[in-house]
Amino acid sequence: MNRPLLPLPANGPEKKLVFTMDLGNPDLYTTEDRFTMWQEYVANDAKIWSEPGSSPNGFWSLFSHQDVSAMLSPKAPFTSEHGMMIGFDAQNPDNAGGRMLVVSEGKWHSALKRLIGPFLSRLRAPELESVLQREIKEIVERMKAEDATDVALEVGPRLPAAIVCEVIGVPLSDRPRLIELTNHAFGGEDSSFNKMTSGVAHSEILFYFYELIEERTKNPGDDLVSTLLTDGRLSADDVLINCNNVLIGGNETTRHSITGAFHIFQAFPEVLHALQDDPELLDTAVEEVVRWTSPAMHVLRVATEDVTIGGQDIRKGEPVVGWLSAANRDARLFPEPHAFRADRKPNRHLGFGNGPHHCLGAALARIELRELLRELSQEAEAVQLNSDPRWMRSNLVQGYQSLPVTMEWR
Ligand code: HEM
Repeated sequence: MNRPLLPLPANGPEKKLVFTMDLGNPDLYTTEDRFTMWQEYVANDAKIWSEPGSSPNGFWSLFSHQDVSAMLSPKAPFTSEHGMMIGFDAQNPDNAGGRMLVVSEGKWHSALKRLIGPFLSRLRAPELESVLQREIKEIVERMKAEDATDVALEVGPRLPAAIVCEVIGVPLSDRPRLIELTNHAFGGEDSSFNKMTSGVAHSEILFYFYELIEERTKNPGDDLVSTLLTDGRLSADDVLINCNNVLIGGNETTRHSITGAFHIFQAFPEVLHALQDDPELLDTAVEEVVRWTSPAMHVLRVATEDVTIGGQDIRKGEPVVGWLSAANRDARLFPEPHAFRADRKPNRHLGFGNGPHHCLGAALARIELRELLRELSQEAEAVQLNSDPRWMRSNLVQGYQSLPVTMEWR
């Protein structure tokens, strides 16, 4: 990448650096040049203003671990209620704002967290482990029967889909269909769905959730949907959008960390052997998978009052983007940031965000990854890439469109 080093913005509210390249442009993130770009910004503690374009109101960008952590700290004067990703429009705000967990704040956010949190907590791990082990065994068996597998399409989406069905309380009889739909909506583009687009598949899931909500209104159980309904404060629509939050939160990110685990085993072959020899490394390896893959590329907030972050003045009402994937490769926190170190400790990555909106599904994601790494380290000898990874064209999700591999089994 030949772009010159950027001049850094001078401090002071009137001296905004106007950067002409729109950092919301998804084409910037389809190649690994993004790491060179972020490295330059992180090393220079850059603060960059992108003019209105991909985001109608423009936005500030922060990259270093220190700046992004400061923005996400519980005391920082920022809100998610207008939206939490590039593309939000202050004139046409997200109608989920103040109703959906990830875009609500204050008392309502706490109330939703208290209702939804127990369904995603570590306490549910023993129940979910058997679902996971069954799914992972099936994945491994299927892969063993194939010469080559595109893990981005056929493996990554399956585990999160099964787990989200379990969390939401989808009856067993409906799960195969829901898992297929979720796989299709979040990356699989299953050919058995003929011409259905991923957007239509997502709508089908929401229709299904709506039917589930009607059914649970009549016959409540002890599942997430019934808990949200019987609380009495949420309308059926509120229940729907919060199920959608869990659906997207659980699928859109985890599938890329799962796919990335195969990429890691190919790029750093010693890791597979290290985990085979020493299963005690599994926990630190899981954190490193989340840091290295960093599927949640950014989060956005809007300043609720004038604030200074890392010497940059930000005015009330201005949107600010924290690039989590850049901060997770900040060499000041992570020596050799592009290397995968299974035993990296400390590993204060921001892959799950930070502060009040820290990922509510982090415990589940960790369990999914741990079980996967455990099984692969026992069964697999090596992973070969059949072609270079194809990256998603997205400024929000750092993820794989395609990762075709051939496995060597033990
Ligand atoms: C929030 C990342 C897995 C559900 C978040 C946030 C990040 C994130 C960065 C913060 C968003 C913000 O600050 O605006 C990830 C990554 C995952 C993962 C990298 C996997 C590797 C999951 C799973 C679930 C889930 C498995 C559920 C099944 C949620 C929910 C929130 C959230 C409900 C909103 C929390 C709140 O606003 O209080 N996630 N996530 N996530 N995530 Fe995850």
